[in-house]
Amino acid sequence: MFDVNISKGYVDMPVPEGIDIVSEIEKMKREKNAVILAHYYQSGEIQDIADYVGDSLALAQWAAKTDASILVLCGVHFMGETAKIICSDKKVLIPDLNAGCSLADSCPADTFAEFVKKHPGYKVISYVNTSAAVKAHTDVVVTSSNARQIVESFPVDEKIIFGPDKNLGNYINSITGRNMLLWDGVCHVHSQFSLEKIVELKKQYPDALVLAHPECKRDILLIADKVGSTAALLRFSTQSECKCFIVATESGILHEMKKINPDKEFIPAPPNDSTCACNECNFMRLNTLKKLYNTLKYELPEIKVDEKIAEKAIKPIQRMLDISASLGI
Ligand code: 13P
Ligand code: SF4
Repeated sequence: MFDVNISKGYVDMPVPEGIDIVSEIEKMKREKNAVILAHYYQSGEIQDIADYVGDSLALAQWAAKTDASILVLCGVHFMGETAKIICSDKKVLIPDLNAGCSLADSCPADTFAEFVKKHPGYKVISYVNTSAAVKAHTDVVVTSSNARQIVESFPVDEKIIFGPDKNLGNYINSITGRNMLLWDGVCHVHSQFSLEKIVELKKQYPDALVLAHPECKRDILLIADKVGSTAALLRFSTQSECKCFIVATESGILHEMKKINPDKEFIPAPPNDSTCACNECNFMRLNTLKKLYNTLKYELPEIKVDEKIAEKAIKPIQRMLDISASLGI
């Protein structure tokens, strides 16, 4: 539609001076029948302009339901791919194609396929934080919101490969009593939280409850008062009578936590290295309001998935959506 260069992975065009970027985005959304889906790890300004803000499962569920013609996925690439696979007939855009995921990258599709081949008779459960090509080698996809229930939907003696997050896999093994074979992958944001620093913080805020995403290391999950997906942590903090929380996950979630609970205090768990903003996912934060504006304006960059891969990957994704729907998740 436009001859626009996206060699940098995003539309590198200036935003006209003096415009109200938020109302322009709203206007383009209406004109183009577009929706903006944003993950909780996006910046506050992107979350505020989105039609839906949620965790990975909710993003996939909304993608399956929407009748919009264009979906702008403000999240990382695997989230965009999942949405595109679910709605292959729609245009799925992402503000910056460079928004990858260290966890998804820790599981290259060809190496994973070899690993699966070496273990005949195993069912394959993949975390949604994987490429479409890995999902194509998978029996069922899970997110951190439904991993436990989906694993438990398999017979207790089923042999299972779980990938790529070993922290999430270990956690699910520990709460279900399963012994799934784990891929050795981690998220660089969640694996850097330090138990020592959280314990220090607890001394300053003795009444605070610790909330942790299951991608954190085992020592942190063991001391956490609540372990769960971003949506589950948000729900817990809202329903709890406690007024103070230490949050061990990407700090973007604090925006919605504070918005819903203005009377409560949320403290981001400190990163291991106090000189960096390591509790911010550098991939998630590549999306900006300016890039979002250009994405809607030029309808670029678009997420594309190889048709043959998409044909295979839709099955485990649909299975996840069906199991979740049947369990009311
Ligand atoms: P959620 O399942 O909570 O959305 O987590 C996604 C993610 O990327 C965590 O790092
Ligand atoms: Fe991937 Fe970690 Fe970023 Fe989540 S926080 S998108 S798992 S790199």
